[in-house]
Amino acid sequence: MENKTMIRSSILFPALVALCTLSSFTSSTAELQRFPHAVKADGSLRFLVLGDWGRRGDYNQSQVADQMGIVGEKLDIDFVISTGDNFYDNGLTGIDDPQFEDSFSKIYTAPSLQKQWYSVLGNHDYRGDVEAQLSLVLGELDSKWLCLRSFIVDAEIVEFFFVDTTPFVDKYFTHPEESVYDWSGILPRNDYLSNLLKDVDSALKDSTAKWRIVVGHHTIRTAGYHGETKELVTQLLPILLENNVDLYINGHDHCLEHISSPDSPLQFLTSGGGSKAWRGEVSPYSPSEMKLYYDGQGFMSVQITQTELDIAFYDVFGNVLHKWGTSKQQYSFM
Ligand SMILES: *[C@@H]1O[C@H](CO)[C@@H](O)[C@H](O)[C@H]1NC(C)=O
Repeated sequence: MENKTMIRSSILFPALVALCTLSSFTSSTAELQRFPHAVKADGSLRFLVLGDWGRRGDYNQSQVADQMGIVGEKLDIDFVISTGDNFYDNGLTGIDDPQFEDSFSKIYTAPSLQKQWYSVLGNHDYRGDVEAQLSLVLGELDSKWLCLRSFIVDAEIVEFFFVDTTPFVDKYFTHPEESVYDWSGILPRNDYLSNLLKDVDSALKDSTAKWRIVVGHHTIRTAGYHGETKELVTQLLPILLENNVDLYINGHDHCLEHISSPDSPLQFLTSGGGSKAWRGEVSPYSPSEMKLYYDGQGFMSVQITQTELDIAFYDVFGNVLHKWGTSKQQYSFM
């Protein structure tokens, strides 16, 4: 216990100093840590998105990983995004939990996947030792691992806003059932949520990137089993719409899904097919907005240039299930 605290503070202290130094130069967005990510020489960026995966290879997790390796190689991806529920059933027990290796390092072994992973936490991760999953010690065990609660990745043409969505969900607090959540670090909850929303909103307003992508674990629009996350519909969605966000990407429902908005360019993308899927419970949804619902395992790719954004969803055999793209003019002032 004492040992763990020492490790943590020795890592956190330089990070804290860096953060404080940063905050004296930048104004409103200093609260969300920023990570720059370079684009390719041709100005493009390519990455895969995976969610709801860590089950020691079971439920087709390994098959999905193999296909990610093949597609990742073909696209020459720059990084991987994890939409959370990284370790089932209850996150990690500590920084020495063998599940980190068994469900991550030993599964995503393809050379093309040995890139930076940017991960958020899901509700199942909150049922374990959250500080352990966020610990930089895991990045020393496997250099591709990086997980934070909320943060920004700035890749020049596109800015990514990763949002910690689990603390928004009322029922985890009011009806936790048999689950125990690790809420250390996010209480008092109302302050945590209002600061987070304020930080995301101001970071979006300050963004000059051509494309804006928000990533969280929980759904906003979905026809899947869990349904829409009403707290995010009321609190986060208005911020996304107001700030011209292009994509909201989530997991949580164990499926692959693409829903468009009737009244804005915002696209809702679920990539939660990393392992256990085939739930068989799908609600009716407006066919004009539902572009894809696939109940099985798989993952998503995204390719971005200054002017083009293209997504594709793949199943467990690497077959393309659905493709979609959009473009923006080379020079636009909005
Ligand atoms: C693995 O994937 C195949 C092909 O989609 C599917 O038929 C099978 O049910 C999946 N297995 C599990 C455990 O989900």
